[in-house]
Amino acid sequence: MSDSEYKEILAAASAFAKEKLEAFDAGHDWSHTKRVLSLAGRIQEEEKAGDREVIALSAILHDIADTKFHKGSETDGGDMAYAFLTGKGLSPEKAAHVRMIINHLSFKNRMEENQVDSIEFRIVQDADRLDAMGAIGIARAFHYGGYKNRALYDPGIPPREYRSAEEYKKSDAPTLNHFYEKLFLLKDLMNTATGKRMAQERHDYMTAFVERFLREWEGLASPPHSGNDNKS
Ligand code: ADP
Ligand code: NI
Repeated sequence: MSDSEYKEILAAASAFAKEKLEAFDAGHDWSHTKRVLSLAGRIQEEEKAGDREVIALSAILHDIADTKFHKGSETDGGDMAYAFLTGKGLSPEKAAHVRMIINHLSFKNRMEENQVDSIEFRIVQDADRLDAMGAIGIARAFHYGGYKNRALYDPGIPPREYRSAEEYKKSDAPTLNHFYEKLFLLKDLMNTATGKRMAQERHDYMTAFVERFLREWEGLASPPHSGNDNKS
């Protein structure tokens, strides 16, 4: 595929995804997709691995049929992407690779043990996971909790482990639990060395945030070892 053909199919896929994503909430929208695309590009550059078309198209199309917002099956997104891409002239092999990546991307699917493997898959998954971490990850979590009308925090409802994807999807626990149930686990699930490094930094930011959140919950406004009131 020439450079101009590459740009063309990227632009077409972007327009297609944008239209599909318009119906979703702001934590799952086109801006998330753009961040995943750019994170995947950065990881790919540093890892010097993977097919750039497959990576970019998978990133752009990865959330077009999220089942939290779209009443369909878990494989609709991949099938829609496959039909779209082959219609635009992408080879069936590459389109099938994109379909496989999209259908296996989600955190929920981790519990279904349908582990697939390709460097392109690993890079896009790292990028998607990174966007659930750090400051953006915190914002997305509370945004999603608000959308679902969930409490910020409830000390009476401890975090738990989910045995199935169904159970995880049905949970209506407070948003702070989501940090223990998913977000703090992500750094150990990263696939690439670059992804791991980026995840560690975002992880540290989130743990500092939650520590402070819990202190403020108890009515303590400032960290224990800062400020001028501590001159001993
Ligand atoms: P994945 O695509 O890996 O399955 P999701 O679609 O479940 O991820 O999550 C999309 C975004 O919504 C992420 O930022 C995630 O942290 C957030 N989110 C998902 N479930 C919850 C929840 N129960 N509480 C708060 N945020 C959530
Ligand atoms: Ni995503």
